[in-house]
Amino acid sequence: SILILDFGSQVTQLIARRIREAGVYCEIVPFAKGAEAFARMQPKGVILSGSPANISDANGPRIPDAVLAADVPLLGICYGEQSLCYQLGGAVVASDHREFGRAEIEIVDDCAFFAGVWAKGDRPTVWMSHGDRIDVIPPGFRAVAVSPGAPFAAIANDEARRYGVQFHPEVVHTPDGAALLKNFVVNVCGVTPNWSMAGFRAAKIAEIREQVGDGKVICGLSGGVDSAVAAVLIHEAIGDQLTCVFVDHGLMRLGEAEQVVSLFREHYHIPLVHVEAEALFLGGLAGVTDPEAKRKFVGKTFIEVFEAEAKKLGGADFLAQGTLYPDVIESVSFTGGPSVTIKSHHNVGGLPERMNMKLVEPLRELFKDEVRRLGVELGLPPAFVGRHPFPGPGLAIRIPGEVTKEACDTLRKADAIYLDEIRKAGLYDEIWQAFAVLLPVRTVGVMGDGRTYDRVCGLRAVTSVDGMTADVYPFEASFLTRTATRIVNEVKGINRVVYDYTSKPPGTIEWE
Ligand code: XMP
Repeated sequence: SILILDFGSQVTQLIARRIREAGVYCEIVPFAKGAEAFARMQPKGVILSGSPANISDANGPRIPDAVLAADVPLLGICYGEQSLCYQLGGAVVASDHREFGRAEIEIVDDCAFFAGVWAKGDRPTVWMSHGDRIDVIPPGFRAVAVSPGAPFAAIANDEARRYGVQFHPEVVHTPDGAALLKNFVVNVCGVTPNWSMAGFRAAKIAEIREQVGDGKVICGLSGGVDSAVAAVLIHEAIGDQLTCVFVDHGLMRLGEAEQVVSLFREHYHIPLVHVEAEALFLGGLAGVTDPEAKRKFVGKTFIEVFEAEAKKLGGADFLAQGTLYPDVIESVSFTGGPSVTIKSHHNVGGLPERMNMKLVEPLRELFKDEVRRLGVELGLPPAFVGRHPFPGPGLAIRIPGEVTKEACDTLRKADAIYLDEIRKAGLYDEIWQAFAVLLPVRTVGVMGDGRTYDRVCGLRAVTSVDGMTADVYPFEASFLTRTATRIVNEVKGINRVVYDYTSKPPGTIEWE
């Protein structure tokens, strides 16, 4: 296994992800618990993450002595490289030349860490993000890559199998980064790649059993992939100690609620309470037009309904959630900077504090596509697992202006036609997210010989890796024409269709 010592970087999870992609098991451990984890795991290699700290901070993260004393391959990334230098007798200085973003480095020497990926003379692109700079490298090391801002962009000590890089190989902006990390764990550390989703599933099941014991667990289903995968996994671990509560707010897509209920009850035989709360939600949304007010209302009501159901069930010891890693770092990017609330997401936070329950969050270290693979591994239908993301507040935030039952029904029909056309064109999996919105604007049209005065439907489709940024999906004109025609012809109440051509930023994916 590989031990990743977390020094507090916001992209530490990406290191883990790359290692998993290389087929190797790894664990992330906060640096303060590093010595203990090192003794327990006896890893074949250790990776030191980056950090927002400066080496000169007296309380800054340090590599545990036991790790430095051992004969084990080490890779220090960014601050990790600096701490390696600092703790092994080199020197790090504050620099007024901050290097930030894409940079071209020059490979000035070969080393085992680069083998098969980069060779002397190459000038690869990498992602840099650092202020401090290494001034003196420790005995036994040599510079193997340089950049204008970092004379020690990469350092190597092949004999000791210790390496440091100032850049971030774990981010996609370093195109060869994944290959480098794979080379490190497989060839430098000598780990046989045999990690798999099946192994992850087995390990998590054991972990859940251990955590829960004979306690009772309650899981809120949103209808989405994440909570469904979490619930199926937990049910596999502890059977009917788990009860799922599906708060159906009536703001789902066409047929979605029914699908979730039948999947859980009939396919998996998982105990499920289906709370049909459409009237409650729509009642509360009456007259509400402000996007944040809608979000807050849906979030708050969801929690209240869930809580009331949990009470009826006689409470539980644990609350299960399908929290993913991006939910944990939500809207914080590794480029730093303070993060502001653009939209208040309703699926994380709130519940655990209020209900005073311990959390079971088996997907906490996974990214969306990994959860999808786990879902397939657990036998969830691929079409269900591959569904586009759907926001917690549902259609409430896809109907700018007031949300009514009629508007929801109209939107559901248009949305279903749009998605049907996308599926028929074989484009569903190429698109990160596609949906229709129903605008409060009415426009004049002509159908047959009559004048119409109906609402406008907006179509949105984007590609994205993580939902943080997004590009508009470039449909062919014939596709849009076909879809618009169908929507106007088949959906009463809509007489005009527009396509949203805004990327994110400056737009967001949802309209509210
Ligand atoms: P935005 O609109 O902020 O959306 O660009 C980014 C991604 O997040 C989804 N989204 C939500 N997901 N609860 C969720 O679970 C929410 O409240 C929420 N709001 C937005 C959105 O669908 C997109 O995938």
